[in-house]
Amino acid sequence: MSKPTSFSGVQPSGQPTLGNLIGVFQPFVAFQDSHQATFCIVDHHAITSRPNPEDLRTNTLGIFAYYLAMGLDPAKCTIFAQSHLPQHTELAWILNSFTQMGELERMTQYKDKSQRQSDNINVGLFDYPVLMAADILLHQVQHVPVGDDQLQHVELTRDIATRFNNLYGPTFTIPKAIIPQVGARVMDLQEPNRKMSKSRPGPGTILLTDAPASAAKKITRAVTDSLATIAYNPQEQPGLANLIDIFASLNNQTPQQVVQQFQGQQYGALKTATAEAVASKLEKLQTAYNSYINDKAELQNLLQKGAEKASATAEKTLQATKQKVGYVLPSSQK
Ligand code: TYM
Repeated sequence: MSKPTSFSGVQPSGQPTLGNLIGVFQPFVAFQDSHQATFCIVDHHAITSRPNPEDLRTNTLGIFAYYLAMGLDPAKCTIFAQSHLPQHTELAWILNSFTQMGELERMTQYKDKSQRQSDNINVGLFDYPVLMAADILLHQVQHVPVGDDQLQHVELTRDIATRFNNLYGPTFTIPKAIIPQVGARVMDLQEPNRKMSKSRPGPGTILLTDAPASAAKKITRAVTDSLATIAYNPQEQPGLANLIDIFASLNNQTPQQVVQQFQGQQYGALKTATAEAVASKLEKLQTAYNSYINDKAELQNLLQKGAEKASATAEKTLQATKQKVGYVLPSSQK
């Protein structure tokens, strides 16, 4: 029986965090075995914050090196850069006419980012979810592994696809978001009611580039509570629940198993064990990352091969979509 299909992407903006690692990088490794999996580095999305060109280039290869360092194998899955397949932006343009302004205005991430970059609320930022819908629909996938902040975007993708299919007949597979059971939203270590985010670096955020010892310190200084009881209670003990999630995810356990393991002990014991788990994970990851990042020519070569692998389905979907909408196709593509 053939495996289900999946697609996901990560933006090459800033340095990825422990939230990215737990929310998607780790799950991606399992997806490459359970799925016909495609992973993208979404460089078009990253330009909505107008990065410095050199940073964008470095971060694009950087995300690819993290994919490889985590254990993604280009022989088992498909990895490519979004801008290498022009079908993504072409489909996004078509889908723009099947998306309502009101739908985009309701997107939480758009509202957050507009506040954060209030001097640069560009059209790309607004249209961002339509490009994400194009990414997913172009590859006709069933599953989209993401952290829970992307659920709203995947829901919109389903709405756009359903609308299009109802108008023109079956064209796009309706995708489903898959979020990890543990760590779908890793929280800031200092403000555990907010998501850990690369846009808020500091003591509450662990970057994958942090020295392992300094990451460990951030964990031992994480905000908890004064209840002094080890229990998994994200509403009342959000800081503690976050540490339990981090420890559980890195050790492939459930939060309940972690609670059992540390029952009756002080928070310090859980903090020390979590700090050690994080430091050890970062140390291994950074060693692997360094072994890949220096061979830029090889990374570019692999990215190009990935784009070639992904292009057949992308082109087929785009042509089918254009045909349905009523474009006159060049005779070679009929
Ligand atoms: P991005 O680059 O912001 O984040 C990449 C993925 O990491 C997850 N994530 C987290 N998970 C758990 N805890 C956290 N603190 C945390 N922070 C980030 C995100 O949920 C995301 O899955 N729009 C997407 C990129 C994208 C995409 C796509 C994803 C573009 N096209 C198509 C899936 C399919 C984004 O900005 O992710």
